[in-house]
Amino acid sequence: AAHRVTVLPGDGIGPEITAVALSVLEAAGQAEGETFTFTEALIGGAAYDATGDPYPDATYRACADSDAVLLAAIGGYKWDSLPSASKPETGLLRLRSSLNAFANLRPAKVIPDLADASSLKREVLEGVDLLIVRELVGGIYFGQPRGFGERDGEKVGFSTDIYSESEVERIAHVAFKAARTRSRRLTSVDKANVLEVSQLWREVVTRVGAEYPDVELSHMYVDNAAMQLIRNPRSFDTLVTSNLFGDILSDEAAMLTGSLGMLPSASISNDGPGVFEPVHGSAPDIAGQDKANPLAMVLSAALMCRHGLGIPAVAGRLEAAVAAVLASGVRTGDIAQPGKQTIGCKAMGRALLEA
Ligand code: NAI
Ligand code: MG
Repeated sequence: AAHRVTVLPGDGIGPEITAVALSVLEAAGQAEGETFTFTEALIGGAAYDATGDPYPDATYRACADSDAVLLAAIGGYKWDSLPSASKPETGLLRLRSSLNAFANLRPAKVIPDLADASSLKREVLEGVDLLIVRELVGGIYFGQPRGFGERDGEKVGFSTDIYSESEVERIAHVAFKAARTRSRRLTSVDKANVLEVSQLWREVVTRVGAEYPDVELSHMYVDNAAMQLIRNPRSFDTLVTSNLFGDILSDEAAMLTGSLGMLPSASISNDGPGVFEPVHGSAPDIAGQDKANPLAMVLSAALMCRHGLGIPAVAGRLEAAVAAVLASGVRTGDIAQPGKQTIGCKAMGRALLEA
């Protein structure tokens, strides 16, 4: 079958890692008798430069009309001082929100040989395999009121953390279902000792949990979760949390695996296409230098095949290629041990195609 994928290369290293991912995806599809039609569209700074809007309507329509969206990354110094509505980051938030992609799945699995590249102890890292389910379209990143004002004669900034029962319910269902496909342990992370929004979160997750008696539910405060992720990350299997806490904890979990350049994510909706993208940003510090690690992007394409397009065999081929290349010792700079030889983004792409 032909799968319609909207491709959003975005900014910085985005176009470099996209080129690798598409070539590998095409090859893996061919081997399984699957074909893709890739429609490229603009997002982020590139879209702002071309149209004045970081998420143009044409991009929304291309995305809504496809089977899945494959996004690289957005942002860069160049656009940092624009007003909020024009910022690349706003384009990304609007993309996820317009497709109602409310559930962000971020797996973090330690690849034994890569653990050395991180500064944490090997015995703490070995066997880490966790999944963070982050609520993506609500909470403090979208809550109203927000803005700037004045208090006692000085300027203030404010944002609102707010969740409705139904918003918590739907993310809880995704998390319990995901936990069922893993080791049936779910940790819900909140700050219920201080925040009302977290008290509601905890109440609703507990209520939904009654429908999943086979999943062991526990609750943890976010500060403790941040600590346990470093101290004893193996104690976690599936975690579910709000937009803000999930943003921070998933980047923390990312570092357990040795590199942001290795981590894929899926943002899934109950109806329309999902958005599949690496966890990392546009890495403006290395953009255009053929230094980017394309593996998170390739693994995001694999998640897309499995969770968005229903072609797990192609996903398996992509993941196997990544594993084979890593096993052969080939490394981009971000995952190499100091002093060891490294290859560039394009060469990594060729190695993947060979594998
Ligand atoms: P970043 O993830 O772009 O970079 C952090 C560090 O990791 C940098 O040193 C970078 O070189 C390195 N890195 C990231 N991805 C890599 C890869 N694939 N291969 C090798 N090294 C890699 O985060 P940062 O620096 O905080 O943000 C840079 C820009 O990206 C900002 O404009 C930010 O808003 C945007 N951003 C976009 C995201 C997205 O598109 N989903 C997510 C996070 C940040
Ligand atoms: Mg982040």
